[in-house]
Amino acid sequence: MLSLYTRSMIRWVLLTIFTSGAVALALSQSNDLPEGKGKEVLERMCINCHGLEQVTAQRYSKKYWGSVVDDMVSRGAEGSEDDVNLAIAYLARNFGKPVNINSATAKDIETDLSFTAAEAQSVVQYRTDKGAIKSFEELAKVPGLRAEVLAEQKKNIVY
Ligand code: HEC
Repeated sequence: MLSLYTRSMIRWVLLTIFTSGAVALALSQSNDLPEGKGKEVLERMCINCHGLEQVTAQRYSKKYWGSVVDDMVSRGAEGSEDDVNLAIAYLARNFGKPVNINSATAKDIETDLSFTAAEAQSVVQYRTDKGAIKSFEELAKVPGLRAEVLAEQKKNIVY
């Protein structure tokens, strides 16, 4: 028969193990990357020198991510040209710079969302004529925007 003291010790130990397990799980989950094409490339290319939190803490335009990845390759990150392109697209899609489509200037829309100057101008024209754009679905109706760029930047656009 275990003494009351021993039983409470066992309970304490079990609780400690359980709690630290839960914390470890939460930590590992917080480092998990969003699902999607290119995720495995990052998990392969970007973990040898620093943690992925170095990556996921940033929010950059696609162009800037391109220069970061090139910089990492020059420092020794290894991947094929396809890997590099997938990594950049993945980063642009998931860790892009947030842009408020109703208050951003045409220049910011162009630079941060990788729109062409004509596309950015079309957005500004639309919101001037019709008022604030309320949703992604409405934005998709603005004339002249490329569907693939919209899909890539979807998560980065706020209304
Ligand atoms: C061969 C080692 C190595 C690999 C592999 C590597 N990095 Fe880096 N990374 C570095 C070093 C070194 C620094 C610190 C650079 C500094 O502080 O000037 C850094 C810093 C960074 C930073 C913070 C600085 C910045 O410019 O914002 C980001 C973001 C980053 N890396 C992203 C990546 C991504 C994305 C990958 C995968 C494509 C990657 N790294 C793979 C070596 C590496």
